[in-house]
Amino acid sequence: MYKRNILITGGAGFIGSHVVRLFVNKYPEYRIVNLDKLTYAGNLANLRDVEDKPNYRFVKMDICDFEGVMHLMEEEHIDGIIHLAAESHVDRSIKDPFTFARTNVMGTLTLLQSAKLYWESRQEKFEGKLFYHISTDEVYGALDLTHPEGVKPPFSTRASSDHHEAYGEEFFLESTKYNPHSPYSASKASSDHFVRAYHDTYGMPTIVTNCSNNYGPYQFPEKLIPLFINNIRHRKPLPVYGKGENVRDWLFVEDHARAIDVIFHRGKVAETYNIGGFNEWKNIDIVRTLIRTVDRLLGRTEDEDMNLITYVTDRLGHDMRYAIDSRKLQAELGWEPSLQFEEGIEKTVRWYLDHEAWMDNVTSGDYQRYYEDMYKGR
Ligand code: NAD
Ligand code: TYD
Repeated sequence: MYKRNILITGGAGFIGSHVVRLFVNKYPEYRIVNLDKLTYAGNLANLRDVEDKPNYRFVKMDICDFEGVMHLMEEEHIDGIIHLAAESHVDRSIKDPFTFARTNVMGTLTLLQSAKLYWESRQEKFEGKLFYHISTDEVYGALDLTHPEGVKPPFSTRASSDHHEAYGEEFFLESTKYNPHSPYSASKASSDHFVRAYHDTYGMPTIVTNCSNNYGPYQFPEKLIPLFINNIRHRKPLPVYGKGENVRDWLFVEDHARAIDVIFHRGKVAETYNIGGFNEWKNIDIVRTLIRTVDRLLGRTEDEDMNLITYVTDRLGHDMRYAIDSRKLQAELGWEPSLQFEEGIEKTVRWYLDHEAWMDNVTSGDYQRYYEDMYKGR
């Protein structure tokens, strides 16, 4: 008998694997069931250190498989769901939006409906249950660089009210109207609306969180940071979209996992929380930092790989700037990011350089073909 039986979807992916690891290790009194289809982005090697734990079970399944999901919930007496499974890469969504609608919209709806039917069939109904949906800040659209003083990344990783006074109008708040631009963010926005609709219509206990860009170990090397670390290591070109002026707000993945833990346990039902560390960077500044860090750790001459920077055709509909205001989460639940960006980047670069086998494993086969196709004509 476990105290809680929690279903984590997408647990073999980047963020999901950190959440599964945290919950399995921190809560031996909980049963953790990881449901993942193992797409190109899911990798059980991300979870080797927890796979033999008695409170952990992996199930290979598609979240769109209604009967399979229903059966699993009944079999495992699921009372909490942390939903991370998704197609997550903007560039892929531009090429193949249908897969994003299928998994992110229909898959989320399938999970919601299964949870509703299963929980309603129990005597205690929705009592003690929670459907926690993990989403992105990209649903809010894009900010521009209109502050009179201009954006000066990096900002402090410690949120302060002074900071907010100065830049207050320039952040995504929980109340910011949804305005997604990419097929990825449109599909996530749609799934967020479905989650809230299940609360408002059926009374299902739900929470939605919207987080900024994550970085850290186990991220699939299609996203900026791991892709570029790997390319610098192999001295391959670094395809910077447009002028490299776009700004993203970066959070270390373990800080996101800690926020999910706090919100799962103490978040208020029906609320939305923004998660971010007030840590904005222009892409080109990140790229230069990555080059310097990799070169230093590999004992190369300073800046010798700067010539790998290659400006390529911009991403279609490329959002200019994302910046999250997470003061609600910080004030109400006491969460704050633990790492400064410089520390986080150092840790991340070291991890990828030390885990060559992981990188080689995920970058073989299909990955090669995908990238040849992706950069054709750029
Ligand atoms: P990821 O692409 O690394 O992992 C996604 C996981 O979902 C993979 O393990 C994959 O196998 C699984 N999956 C995909 N389709 C599935 C399906 N139909 N059925 C079952 N499993 C399926 O993604 P990530 O970066 O870890 O993101 C996880 C979640 O967090 C996503 O919902 C994403 O929108 C959200 N998010 C990500 C970021 C970020 O910076 N990466 C930021 C904010 C929010
Ligand atoms: P990415 O990691 O794909 O995250 P997202 O698009 O969800 O923010 O991209 C981060 C930023 O880096 C984004 O502005 C696009 C840019 N980028 C490049 O310039 N080159 C690349 O090869 C990639 C993958 C991203």
